[in-house]
Amino acid sequence: MPLFAILTLFPEALEPYLSTSIVGIAREKQATEVILVDFRDFARNRHRTVDARPYGGGPGMLLRPEPVVECIEWLEERHGVFKKLLLTPTGRRFKQSHAQDLVEEERILLLCGRYEGFDERISQVLDFEPVSVGDFVLSGGELPALMIVEAVARLLPGVLGDERSALEDSFQESGELDHPHYTRPRVFRGLEVPEVLLSGDHKRIAGWRQEQAQARTLRDRPDLLDNRGQQAGD
Ligand SMILES: C[S@@+](CC[C@H](N)C(=O)[O-])C[C@H]1O[C@@H](n2cnc3c(N)ncnc32)[C@H](O)[C@@H]1O
Repeated sequence: MPLFAILTLFPEALEPYLSTSIVGIAREKQATEVILVDFRDFARNRHRTVDARPYGGGPGMLLRPEPVVECIEWLEERHGVFKKLLLTPTGRRFKQSHAQDLVEEERILLLCGRYEGFDERISQVLDFEPVSVGDFVLSGGELPALMIVEAVARLLPGVLGDERSALEDSFQESGELDHPHYTRPRVFRGLEVPEVLLSGDHKRIAGWRQEQAQARTLRDRPDLLDNRGQQAGD
C-alpha cells in the first residue's frame, strides 16, 4: 500500500478531490493513504512566509529551502524514507510506465511548487526526481500531484471494479492508444455501431479492436510507435 505525502501550501484545495472519485475509493478500501502537509507550518519567521525574492533579480518569488527541507526531514523521521518527486515543468515527462513503477513504492512524496518555483538547493540537499506532467506551465504543483496520485491509485489491486480496464487502457500493455468504444443506442443520429461488435464473434472483435487501435495510434500519436522499444525499457 503506497503512502502518498503531498507537500503543498493549499491542502484545503486538494482534500475534496482526494476524498472522491477513484482515489477516494482507493483510500476507503485502504489500498492507499494520502497525507497532506502544509510546509508553511515549517516557516521559521513570525509572518510564516515561505518565499523570497530571487538573487540576481527578476520577476516573482521563489520558495525558500529551509521550510521545505525541514518539513521533509520531519516527515521522513516519522514515516521512513520517501521516493521524492519534485513537480516542475523542467522535469522528466510523467508517463504511464512511471505510474506502474510507482505502484511498487512504499512511500511517495510529491512536492508542489508555487510562484516561480524552488530554490535550487532543495534538490541539491535531498534526492528528488523532477517530474513534469506536460509541456505547459501551471501556477502550482497541486494539479500535477493529483494527476500522479490518481494514475497510480487506479493501478492498485482491488481499486478498479474490473482490473482488466486498466490493462486495456491506452499506453498500457501494447504501448498504443485505446481502440474506439461503443454503447447503446445502436444508432445515434444516423451513426451505427460497427457491425463486428454485434457479431458475438470474439476473435473477430479482438482483431477489429487491435486494427483500430493501431490505426488510431498511427494517425494521432505516431511517436508512440517510434518509441515502443524505448518505452518498454523506460
Ligand atoms: C509557475 S510554475 C514555475 C515555473 C518555472 N518558473 C519554470 O518556468 O519552469 C509554479 C509551480 O507549478 C508547478 N508546475 C507548473 N507547471 C507544471 C508542470 N507542467 N508539471 C509539473 N509541475 C508544474 C511546479 O511545482 C512549479 O514550481
